[in-house]
Parts: sequence; C-alpha cells; structure tokens
Amino acid sequence: MANVRLKNITKRFGSVTAVNNVCLDIPHGKVTALLGPSGCGKTTILLMLAGIYKPTEGEIYFDDLQVNGIPPQLRNVGLVFQSYALYPHMTAFENIAFPLKLKKLPKAEIQKRVEEIAEVVQIGDLLDRKPGQMSGGQQQRVALCRALVKKPDLLLLDEPLSNLDARLRLETRAEIKRIQQELGITTILVTHDQVEAVTMADQVAVLKAGVLQQYGTPKELLEQPANLFVASFLGDPPMNLLQGELEYQEGRCYFRSGRSLRLPVPPLAAKGLQKSPGQKLILGIRPEHLTITWERGRAPWRGKVFLVEFLGRDKLLDFRFGDQSLRVLVPATFPVERGEVLGIEPQVEHLHIFDPQTGLALTGPPEGLRACSDHEPA
Ligand SMILES: Nc1ncnc2c1ncn2[C@@H]1O[C@H](COP(=O)(O)OP(=O)(O)O)[C@@H](O)[C@H]1O
Ligand SMILES: [Mg+2]
Repeated sequence: MANVRLKNITKRFGSVTAVNNVCLDIPHGKVTALLGPSGCGKTTILLMLAGIYKPTEGEIYFDDLQVNGIPPQLRNVGLVFQSYALYPHMTAFENIAFPLKLKKLPKAEIQKRVEEIAEVVQIGDLLDRKPGQMSGGQQQRVALCRALVKKPDLLLLDEPLSNLDARLRLETRAEIKRIQQELGITTILVTHDQVEAVTMADQVAVLKAGVLQQYGTPKELLEQPANLFVASFLGDPPMNLLQGELEYQEGRCYFRSGRSLRLPVPPLAAKGLQKSPGQKLILGIRPEHLTITWERGRAPWRGKVFLVEFLGRDKLLDFRFGDQSLRVLVPATFPVERGEVLGIEPQVEHLHIFDPQTGLALTGPPEGLRACSDHEPA
C-alpha cells in the first residue's frame, strides 16, 4: 500500500458531528500527525481508518481501493492505544505472538517473527516478562511490537505517549521515530500535544471541532498559520496576539494598538490587506521574533518589563501595554530586571495579520497550504 486518502469524510454520532467533511492525502512511508484538542475527532478518524467505525459520508482509499466496506481484520493495519492493553497473564512474547496465533501461523514462523520485531524495537531481553514486571515505557514498546509483528501496511498510534512520564516520553518518542524510519512504515499519530506532533511528524493535520484547519509540514504550520486557531495552538511559548487597527500615513501602512503601539506593516504583508483605515485586525508575532534593543529612541515599541520567567535556556519577558501583553524570548543570560524599560524590535518579516471576524490569516500562506483539496478552513 502506498497512500491513504480521506475524501470528504464526515462522521456523526446522533446529533454530534465528530468529523466534518475532512479531506486528507496521507503519503506513504511518512509520519502524519492528527493534532487538536480533546474531542476534536482524532480518534474517530483513526477508528474509521482501522475499519472499526464506518464514515457517515465520504470515502476512504488505500491507494486506489475504496475500503469503506472492508472489515478491520482485512485491512492489515496495526493499532496502538494510549493504554497498552496487554494481556496481564501473558508474557511479552505471548502478547506479541498473539495476533500471529490467531492467524494460525506455524510455531517456528511465529518464533522467528516475534524475535525479529523484538530486535528492531530492542526489547529482546524483556520477552519472558509479564506486563506487571515492566515499566510503562517497556509495556508500550511491547504493544508497539504486537502491532508491528503482523507487518501492517499502516501503523495507527493513538496518543501512545500520554501515559508515560516526561523523561520516558522523550525517550519513547525518539524510539518510535527510529523504528518508523527503520521500517519505513506509513504511520498516523494522534496527539493533542503540539510538541509531539512537530517533533515526530513529517506533516501535521490540525483539527478543531471535527473540521480540518490546516495541513502542512511543521515548518509551514509554524511559519504560515492559516488562521488564529493554528497560530495559537502551535508554538511554545505561544504567539503574541495584539488587537488593533490599520492606519495609513503618506502612503504607508501602520498597525496601531492603543496609544503606545504603532508599527509599520511591511509592504509585503500590507499587500494582502484591504486599504481600509480603521479596519480591526489582530497582529501576531512569536516571542522568539522580537528583539530587545538598547537604542530606545529607535525601537518601534517601548515597554516596562512586567514579569521575568525562567524557562531553562531562555527567559520570557512579559511586557504589558494597557490590557494587552507582549512576551519576548531572550537568552537566560540576558541581564534584565523587573520594572526596566526596554526597546522592543519586531522582526517584521515574521508578522502575521488576522481578521478578527473570521480568524483567517490575511498575510497568510499560499492557497495550497491552507488545507487540502476542496476544503474550506473554518
Ligand atoms: N462512540 C461514540 N458515540 C457518541 N459520540 C462519540 C463517540 N465517539 C466519539 N464521540 C464524540 O465525537 C467527538 C470526537 O471524539 P474523539 O474522536 O474521541 O475526539 P479526540 O480523539 O480528538 O479526543 C466528541 O464530541 C465525542 O464525544
Ligand atoms: Mg482521542
């Protein structure tokens, strides 16, 4: 199997629309993440791909084959859930061997396949243990082996790291990525954690309330968010969002927010805007795209440091302008005290401008990046 395609997929449970007209092309051999807050329809999409749920509308294709009517056991997909769901009375070996036993493979063949996959996942030394004698991370790797031993065409992972503590999560994240690359298996990763999606996936589909918001590489989503939801869901610390309006003077375009903030809008960004003075807008800029400057007179913005937050390698400075807050990321070694007045320079090429009514980016990505095919982002 090469590619997976969702074509105008909708899933309703009674009056609840869990997935709303989603189109996605999922490429072969890559990791695609489904990212969004709890309840946005991620698991429902995964279960439709596995064949456990049937779409209410739309079609699912594995290559050119429409699979809507094909039952789960004939789809050759491997599923791994947040809860490892291993059989507690069986050893790791028996757990991994289980799907092959169901297929009635010869004993020697089962032995060989389990050992092979255990070596790839590097749990060869755990095969005699029962789940109770393993850590959460080890159990999750056994569950991964159980999904992979069938040599599935498609690996579906539903929040596989959620039950692990922070350090194990990092380790297991890297492990899954390594195994995926080694096997070259098409993988769909469901997660609500944007860091997980951005670090593990080749492309990310962002969902909100069952509707696809944007589909692209992590870089595209971070640098060219299609709307306010994507802009604020991805990135850590989150993007600054300021409310204001447009102002024109001597042919130049400015963004004004309150009395103290007035910022030239670069011509390229201004190009996409309607020339209507007073038009309400939201300006977005990430904390890492603001620079502190000592030349106060020249800086477009000046502010008093309201709060200094240590984030390990960085410090996050929080400035307040009226009721709006602006956060700036600086190195941890940067000398700064609460109450100091500093100049702030935005890197104008990283400005984003959004329509507060629709939430859509006005300086946004080329059409093709917004979502896929015939789908309108909400
Ligand atoms: N079997 C079901 N019956 C009724 N409603 C469901 C069922 N499964 C999911 N839902 C609803 O569909 C929406 C999406 O759920 P889900 O796909 O589990 O979200 P996610 O995995 O993103 O947290 C939620 O509103 C959820 O309550
Ligand atoms: Mg879920």
